[in-house]
Amino acid sequence: VSPGPVHAALTSWYHHAARDLPWRRRDCTPWGVLVSEAMLQQTPVSRVVPRWQEWMRRWPEPKDAALAPVAEILTVWDRLGYPRRALRLREAAQTIVDRHGGRVPETADELRKLPGVGEYTAAAVACFAFEEPEVVVDTNIRRVLARLFAGQALPGKTYTADQRRLARDVFPDPEADGGQLACTWNIAAMELGALVCTARSPACSECPAAQLCTWRLAGSPPPTEEQRTR
Ligand code: ADE
Repeated sequence: VSPGPVHAALTSWYHHAARDLPWRRRDCTPWGVLVSEAMLQQTPVSRVVPRWQEWMRRWPEPKDAALAPVAEILTVWDRLGYPRRALRLREAAQTIVDRHGGRVPETADELRKLPGVGEYTAAAVACFAFEEPEVVVDTNIRRVLARLFAGQALPGKTYTADQRRLARDVFPDPEADGGQLACTWNIAAMELGALVCTARSPACSECPAAQLCTWRLAGSPPPTEEQRTR
């Protein structure tokens, strides 16, 4: 399957079907995007929204979070789980103040050096906050790519070299339009995985790329033992 028509199908679907989330609005700052990605890592969107709003109300800029008492940080984080993430985010705010003049760095390489920021978060913030055409890969995107392009029911639990290659191979050409399509592709594939191309019962009848999907065209074979467990 050639990626071009899939890019077109998913990005136009995204423009009308995507959830209106506060960190996706035009007025969201890069700091807001970083806070959202830290919170969303192991927690569903519905639980993140009120915590994100409270965090941003109290600490609208990195300099505010850098000075916040740990106890207050943990109270606002509350039941999002994995409270160490909250402490790492505070440390990241301190690093942003100390080394970047209080402004969130703009490249994935610089973002990656912040405490608690891994490959995924660095690419996501570079892309969603600064429109850098980075290849973003999370579990939703891995599943969407496995189905659309590799004909697999599930991608398996580990992120393999083959999957990394696939994500790069099907990535829109950043040169074509300054990276706009590339960034929309990332968020559209993520949203499709969250809303339609779900792990257990994908809603293929609602999928904008159903006619182009390798897995669907192969008759939607069930996951192999290996895909379910590895
Ligand atoms: N929008 C941007 N990043 C997201 C994420 N990790 N989960 C859900 N929506 C998002």
